[in-house]
Amino acid sequence: MCGITGYIGYDEAAPLLIRALKKLEYRGYDSAGVAVIDNERIFVRKMKGQIKLLDESLLSFPLGGKAGIGHTRWATHGEPSDINSHPHTDSEGRIAIVHNGIVENYIKLKQWLQGRGVVFRSDTDTEVIVHIINYFYRGNGGGLLDALIETLKLLNGSYALAIVSADYPDRIIAARKGSPLIAGVGKTGSFIASDIPALLEHTRDVIFLEDGEIAVLYRDHIELRGSEGEALKRETTHIEWDIESAEKGGYPHFMLKEIFEQPKAMSDALGPRLKKDSASNTIIDFDEVKLDERWTQARRILFVACGTAYHAGIIGKYALEHFARIPVEVDIASEYRYRRPVFDKNDIVIVISQSGETADTLAAMRLAKQNGSRVFAITNVPGSTLSREADTVVYTYAGPEIAVASTKAFTTQVVCIYLLALELGRLRGQISAQDYQRYVAALSAIPKQARQILDKKESIQRLASRQFNKTKMFFMGRQFDYPVSMESALKLKEISYTHSEAFAAGELKHGPIALVDSDTLVVTFATQKALFEKMISNIREVTSRGAASLVITWEGVDFFDTVSDEIFTLPETEDSFSPLLAVIPAQLFAYYCAVQHGNTPDKPRNLAKSVTVE
Ligand code: M6R
Repeated sequence: MCGITGYIGYDEAAPLLIRALKKLEYRGYDSAGVAVIDNERIFVRKMKGQIKLLDESLLSFPLGGKAGIGHTRWATHGEPSDINSHPHTDSEGRIAIVHNGIVENYIKLKQWLQGRGVVFRSDTDTEVIVHIINYFYRGNGGGLLDALIETLKLLNGSYALAIVSADYPDRIIAARKGSPLIAGVGKTGSFIASDIPALLEHTRDVIFLEDGEIAVLYRDHIELRGSEGEALKRETTHIEWDIESAEKGGYPHFMLKEIFEQPKAMSDALGPRLKKDSASNTIIDFDEVKLDERWTQARRILFVACGTAYHAGIIGKYALEHFARIPVEVDIASEYRYRRPVFDKNDIVIVISQSGETADTLAAMRLAKQNGSRVFAITNVPGSTLSREADTVVYTYAGPEIAVASTKAFTTQVVCIYLLALELGRLRGQISAQDYQRYVAALSAIPKQARQILDKKESIQRLASRQFNKTKMFFMGRQFDYPVSMESALKLKEISYTHSEAFAAGELKHGPIALVDSDTLVVTFATQKALFEKMISNIREVTSRGAASLVITWEGVDFFDTVSDEIFTLPETEDSFSPLLAVIPAQLFAYYCAVQHGNTPDKPRNLAKSVTVE
């Protein structure tokens, strides 16, 4: 979704704003713009298209000034166009704002303003905000902050806002409700942005604004205010991520880099949670989560998430039922929050979100909390809204994930879920000491095995070059292979724009097989040994209807050669841990298909990294 940034300090603002916007590019956008204050006047440059066009324009015709705001727009109200791009200004061009979010009551507010003679230039919901600020600023005789406070009271919906005014060249004002906003003071000035990567090169000590809060940025300090303007104090949060982790580091795309970072990311997720006991056995030490009676006696666990994180939740259901023998349900956050779910105060609700800012996931978490459930969050972003509001947080330690298509965030979420499932299984007496040791050893070996898979990337690249033109690509599997199929189909559709679906292989004959023809590739995950024979039948069913076939199975399993044209093998682990390995060739396949199609895998069309609107 939209990205916001702002800078006030000792250096020229425009180049810094452009650098920050480039760090926010991954969020998805269709236009970009900046507003800079110079000599108590505001100068705006904005346009449809990529940031590099804006950058080129600013290099040819620079805008001077040491304070400014910037924006990448992901169109919601009004088509992508120069005029609809942010920043938007009031009629006199004395106030400029950038906005991430949606003003739900903008039509009513627009009519109200039009009734007072305001002429609108854009089709956006955002433009109403700047005109209302101006209305209060001119009418009430107070300062800019007072005008903003009055304005915010009228807005329904969500916003992260940054505002500059020619009358206040010494400050930027920012406000948040429902959309993320982070501020920090660096050596050359103060910064504000929608996400951490935009601030990393200036500071790692940041303030996460909470809903209803306002930040006033000066060159060398930031004042935090409440919704009525009252002064607030907040400790800064130190971000461990380094700058390199948010750079491509020699890879052509962030997505490929992030796929290759998975061995390290999974190690980082496992490392702090494994330790040796007195007999030198490796055991799980999940001390962030107090696995007390509420956990061990839980009658039901519920996973709630969106997209890829939802797929991690389905693996969570299979894992917790398998290892800990607890009934588990999985819900899509946007379904959970709008239907009438049955609450039980003994439920444990596990919300999963890479960003910790997904609007539907946050709403689902709040609903569960209001109804007495204990909420446990799995997230990647320290300081995110989810991490601050959940009762317990487990970090995935994947480092910044920039590509829109989630890869290392997914595998690290699944690692955390397996740790939880195994430990809960042990505490509930569902896993013998011997099996527990075997499982922990197998889990510890996964990062090394993931590296072995990545070493075979060329074979997936070749496969993609042979198959990328198929118009339909289906993924199927049973048990743990089913959620992996779902995740693989999502990855492929997101970045290659190929029609892809996932099927529980047992469902094939209940409908999906009608779609299979010679223009179809069927990717079969076959890692559940007890079900090999059933999978062979399923593969025969699709190949006999003309489909090309790829089977992903364990090394040393040779009988799929007789039924499938293409085989990709994985180093063997426990069947129940197969998702952590099997998803990797599927991620690579999606990536290489996207590249073959000439798409930009990091920034797929119509998608945004962090879905902060509902
Ligand atoms: O930040 P979250 O994990 O809450 O994001 C949830 C989904 O929006 C996200 O997983 C999305 O499906 C990805 N683009 C998948 O690659």
